[in-house]
Amino acid sequence: MFNPLPTVLLFAMGLVGCHLTEPQEKPEQLVQKAVEFPRAREIVTKYCVQCHYDQSTINRYDFQDDQEMIDQAGPIAERVRSGSMPPVGSPQLSKVERGELINWALRQGRINAEERKAQAENETEE
Ligand code: HEC
Repeated sequence: MFNPLPTVLLFAMGLVGCHLTEPQEKPEQLVQKAVEFPRAREIVTKYCVQCHYDQSTINRYDFQDDQEMIDQAGPIAERVRSGSMPPVGSPQLSKVERGELINWALRQGRINAEERKAQAENETEE
């Protein structure tokens, strides 16, 4: 007798599988709530300031400085998303930490861009 159950189960598992792998492409989607600065600060302190502690170094950024971290949110989002920071050989963020940092950095980066745009418009009006 033909039993369709195994086929149906395999098909259903395939569907679920797709859904499970999808969010991994966008780590910031692992995090449901907007990540606030203090959490981003913890992650950057843990993984980034050992290199980014002094503006005079090749790394250019001093991420011990809160304002610097905020100002550079855009580049932080880019580098962490692309996987080029932290560099190979340095301790890597967990999946969730990565999602949290990108979540904060993308949002702060958008705020920065809007502020810079508003500022530029103000300057041309004066
Ligand atoms: C092992 C040392 C090291 C660690 C750890 C490290 N970085 Fe870097 N980072 C560098 C160096 C060296 C450069 C400059 C070379 C380059 O652009 O790749 C750099 C460049 C960057 C840049 C681009 C600078 C520019 O002017 O374009 C960003 C943004 C950045 N890092 C963010 C981070 C963040 C965020 C972390 C933590 C998640 C991190 N880095 C961890 C060494 C490090």
